[in-house]
Amino acid sequence: MAVTDAWWDSTHANRHRRRVWYAALLVLAVLVLAPPASISVPQDEARRDRWQRPAEVLDALGITVGSRVADVGCGEGYFVLHLARRVGTSGVVYAVDIDPEALATTRRKVERAGFPQVRLVLSREDDPRLPEDELDAVLIVNAYHEMHKHDAMLGGIFRALKPGGRLAIIDGAGEEHEDRTTLLRRHRMSRKLVREDAERNGFRFREERPGFDRPGRNARSFFFLIFEKPAKGVRTPTGTASHRISWLTSSLTPLSFRGVFLTF
Ligand SMILES: C[S@@+](CC[C@H](N)C(=O)[O-])C[C@H]1O[C@@H](n2cnc3c(N)ncnc32)[C@H](O)[C@@H]1O
Repeated sequence: MAVTDAWWDSTHANRHRRRVWYAALLVLAVLVLAPPASISVPQDEARRDRWQRPAEVLDALGITVGSRVADVGCGEGYFVLHLARRVGTSGVVYAVDIDPEALATTRRKVERAGFPQVRLVLSREDDPRLPEDELDAVLIVNAYHEMHKHDAMLGGIFRALKPGGRLAIIDGAGEEHEDRTTLLRRHRMSRKLVREDAERNGFRFREERPGFDRPGRNARSFFFLIFEKPAKGVRTPTGTASHRISWLTSSLTPLSFRGVFLTF
C-alpha cells in the first residue's frame, strides 16, 4: 500500500510539474510568436489595400514624387502613409484632423516609417489650417459626412489648392432623398449634396471614378468624386475684394446662380 502511495505521489507530482512546464512554454510561445500591436497595424492596412485600391486613388489625383498634398480628416493615417510613400522626401503630406488622439496614432506610424515629409495639423472644425495656394491635391476619405461646417472646410481647402489642384471626396454612399442628419447617423453622404457643396464653393466637378466595396461586418459601398480648382475665371467668395463683391452680388441673386463667382 505504502509503495502504491509513493508511486502515486511521484506520478502525480511529475504530472503536475509537466503541466506547469507546458503552461510556461505556452505563455512563452504566445509572447514570442504573437505579433505586438505595432506589427498588426500593417496587416490591417494590407487588408484595406485590397478593397481601397490606394494606388488607383493617388493616380486619379495625379500625385507623383514631389507633390504637395493633404489628407483632411486623416484619422489614424491609412492614406497618409500611402501618400508619403508616393510623394517621397521631396514632397509634403499634411495630415489633418480635429482629433488629437487620431493624430497621435498617425504620428506614431509616421515616425516608425521614418517619413520626414509628413506634417501633422491639428485643425479646427471650420478650418483645415492649411497654407494657401500650395497644394496639388487634397483627399477626404470617409470623413466629409462628419464635417458639420462643410462650407468653411471646403472654402479652406479651395484656398489651399493651387489653380488646377484636385480634391477627391470618397464617402459612404447614401440615398439622395436623405437629409444630412440621417446621413450622418448612417455614416454616409449623398453624391448630390457633395456636388452641390463643392460647386457652391468654387470647385468644378471633374469626374466620378469607380467606387469601393468594403467587405466584412461593416460592409459599405463608397463613391469616389473628383473636383478641381479652376485655373482661372471662377473664384470663391473669400479672397480679394472683387471676389467678395461678386459673392455679395450672387447672394442677392436667385439660388440657381449662387454657385458661380465671376472675377471682375
Ligand atoms: C471615419 S474617420 C476616417 C479616417 C480616415 N480618413 C480613413 O479613411 O481611415 C473620420 C475622421 O474625420 C475627422 N474629422 C471630422 N470632422 C473633421 C473636420 N472638420 N476637420 C478635420 N477632420 C475631421 C474625425 O476626427 C475622424 O478622424
